[in-house]
Amino acid sequence: MIKVAFVCLGNICRSPMAEFVFKDLIKKNGQADEFIVTSFGTSDEEEGNGIYHMAKRTLNAHGIDGEHIARRITANDIQNNDYVLAMEERNVNSLLRISKGEYSQKIKRLCDYTKFPRDVADPWYTRDFEKAYNDIYDGCSAFLEYVNNRR
Ligand code: 4NP
Repeated sequence: MIKVAFVCLGNICRSPMAEFVFKDLIKKNGQADEFIVTSFGTSDEEEGNGIYHMAKRTLNAHGIDGEHIARRITANDIQNNDYVLAMEERNVNSLLRISKGEYSQKIKRLCDYTKFPRDVADPWYTRDFEKAYNDIYDGCSAFLEYVNNRR
């Protein structure tokens, strides 16, 4: 079983989108029972809140659904996952602060697995959730290919 945690700032937009996009990909690929997939935020600002309505609407437009309650990641959560996939560089920096610099080998940006390593576009101020979705889909596809090629 491969444990994957997706991480953004608030855990109401990008990381729950990544969680459900990746769950959809592994289901379609017949690999749902090979992974445990979750998501977290590096901040506790949105803790207890559900997926942001525009993130949910964007997922739904792509035939994907899911429910999630936001929570902040702990050092234990980082230890307990095989891959901790951040949406952007500042999330990586926050994760390394939380882990006290440990586990740096499993803390990566999601889109570092793509042909064009980059942050996932932040939809919070731009309202461009479709752009974030496209980055997330690209990253999740590339990450699944990476994991499958390693085995
Ligand atoms: P997320 O989006 O990190 O993708 O969940 C955000 C959610 C809330 C805020 C920023 C980004 N905020 O500033 O409250």
